[in-house]
Amino acid sequence: MKFLITAGGTRERIDPVRFISNASSGKMGYALAEAAIGAGHEIVLITAAKGLKAIEGARVVNVESAGEMFEAVKKEFGECDCLVMAAAVSDYTPCSPAKNKIKKSDDSIVIVLKATEDILKWAGEHKKKEQLVVGFALEDKDVRSRAQGKLESKKLDMIVANTPAAIGAEESCVEIKTPTGQWQSLPRASKTVTARKIIKAIEQL
Ligand code: CTP
Repeated sequence: MKFLITAGGTRERIDPVRFISNASSGKMGYALAEAAIGAGHEIVLITAAKGLKAIEGARVVNVESAGEMFEAVKKEFGECDCLVMAAAVSDYTPCSPAKNKIKKSDDSIVIVLKATEDILKWAGEHKKKEQLVVGFALEDKDVRSRAQGKLESKKLDMIVANTPAAIGAEESCVEIKTPTGQWQSLPRASKTVTARKIIKAIEQL
């Protein structure tokens, strides 16, 4: 299969030296890419992650912001059999990033944010019949019901639910579900092991 995998937390520029981001390390996206390569698949990895060891055997597209990730996904999506959105995409981005470094003053400042595009939702709505779209859901409560909501509203073929404990961690403990299947809890394990199981589950679709 041709896999398109996204990884890492996007960075949304406030000014040339500052940004808004999140605690995602990108490890799960990279583990998925490595697991898929190991299983003989073709991989395009779109990544906003920093400081991770380069992946051999994948075509890598580096991006920074949610906007750049969206453009890259739109460009590559038509060619893939399966998109896996493991990236932690920023839901908001500054409306007007400053061209020059913002100077400090004694006043408080307000940064106005606008919503970014939901890349996964776009893919769910634009997929062809034979394409698969897999998303992640990061939930700190009502994990299954909220993840089920994302599975349905984003028209996904599989959702991988996890909790904030997974962010930046070496291990993960996830649950996966397809539209017609039951919840399947994977045992706590390294992201490498979990990623292999997720790729196997996708192959079975
Ligand atoms: N996602 C995306 N584009 C966004 C935001 C999220 O493609 N602008 C994707 C993520 O890559 C993930 C899935 O949507 O696969 C769910 O992300 P999550 O942060 O759990 O949920 P959100 O949809 O952002 O909703 P909320 O933050 O309200 O839970």
